Amino acid sequence: MEKLVIKGGTRLNGDVVISGAKNAAVALLPATLLVDGICTINNLPYISDVKISCKILEELGAKVTWNGNNEVTIDSRNIESSAAPIDMTSKFRASYYLIGALLGRCKSAVVGLPGGCNLGARPIDQHIKGFELLGATVEVIEGKINATAKKLVGTSIYLDKVSVGATINVMLASVLAEGTTIIENVAKEPHVVDVANFLNAMGADIRGAGTDLIKINGVKKLCGNSTYSVVPDQIEAGTFMLAAVATKGDITVKNCIPEHLDCLTAKLIEMGVNIDINNDSIRVYTNKRPNKANIITMPYPGYPTDLQPQIGVALSLAEGTSIINEGIWDSRFQYTAELNKMGANIINQGKSAVFEGVEELYGSFVEATDLRAGAALIIAGIVANGETSITNIYHIDRGYENIEEKFRKLGANIQRVVEEDIF
Ligand code: EPZ
Repeated sequence: MEKLVIKGGTRLNGDVVISGAKNAAVALLPATLLVDGICTINNLPYISDVKISCKILEELGAKVTWNGNNEVTIDSRNIESSAAPIDMTSKFRASYYLIGALLGRCKSAVVGLPGGCNLGARPIDQHIKGFELLGATVEVIEGKINATAKKLVGTSIYLDKVSVGATINVMLASVLAEGTTIIENVAKEPHVVDVANFLNAMGADIRGAGTDLIKINGVKKLCGNSTYSVVPDQIEAGTFMLAAVATKGDITVKNCIPEHLDCLTAKLIEMGVNIDINNDSIRVYTNKRPNKANIITMPYPGYPTDLQPQIGVALSLAEGTSIINEGIWDSRFQYTAELNKMGANIINQGKSAVFEGVEELYGSFVEATDLRAGAALIIAGIVANGETSITNIYHIDRGYENIEEKFRKLGANIQRVVEEDIF
């Protein structure tokens, strides 16, 4: 088993280059199944969710060629199967995009129920509602989702809940459907727009991505033969911005799209942090404890739930008392118990937590309870006095490329250690 060992007490300083967005990449890769041709995707983050997505595409009959760590060429002309390997799909959440993509391409999909971070209930009823309205029959039997359709026909779909996954999945299923599909009350995250841009670059006709309503005019075929670059990861960028705040450091986050981080920069200014914004970079610097702040997480352009644990570390060190209300997931505060082991003073009840700011944290043995919790604990370990060991780091490897190398370049003392299992 691997763990991260951090010797803390460091102020981070320097530049960090942001990778392509995980949550875009894990949708773009299944989306290549809709392309009856060859396409190349670059700026892919080299993370385990991407590697496993590529393996699944190969199992389905696509030819996947890696051109270095961050670019793949995918030839989906000879897709042989619409049944994805269950052992692989159950390892991560975004495998649900295979349903929309395979249904669109083959009019049939068999995919294991998705895995991923345990953040509480993660239903997919809105995905299924969309597929059914398009004309598919969907059954969930013995841990598998089985979707079939004689044909898919465009229609109006109103999502009951703003959902990133349902928006993208229904979009994937309707690109090759007959006629026009209108999806309302959709998610507006940058990765939703990125998937629409990719599909349009391959010949789809999708309008309105980034607004509340997406209109898809079905086309007969997507052709490929072009190269697409994954949008920069706004959550990775935000993670390093918050690392600068918590460590009272000075970090320039490069290769990001500053507008995607407006909600965070506004909050950091409220917290007394200095921010300089350029075309594709943001410098975050401070030499004092942040001011207290209140946060409520919401769909984009609200404050993202995926940056909630990371700002939790900064607020646990702020002057005064802060409150975070989690608006998306039921169980996104598991990291607070780990932070309390490091000297934080956080009381969590349900979907709210009260952060009584402390002056310092100290090193401890903690567990990454999910992906973003793991990133938050790395930041806490870098601030804390003494040594911190973080276990269950496979969660972190699912979503951050070269994370310890990037933090080391900023001055952190962080090592990956292989530990013999005791039991
Ligand atoms: C995506 O999850 C992200 N994952 C999550 O990132 C992120 O936290 C989340 O969006 C919100 O931004 C990927 O993109 C792979 P949702 P997703 O559907 O699509 C409810 C990370 O750390 N809902 O937008 O699964 C749901 O319970 C991960 O990178 C339904 O009720 O989230 C939640 O309360 C963790 N029915 C809300 O909607 C449905 O059919 C938003 O979920 C679908 C969702």
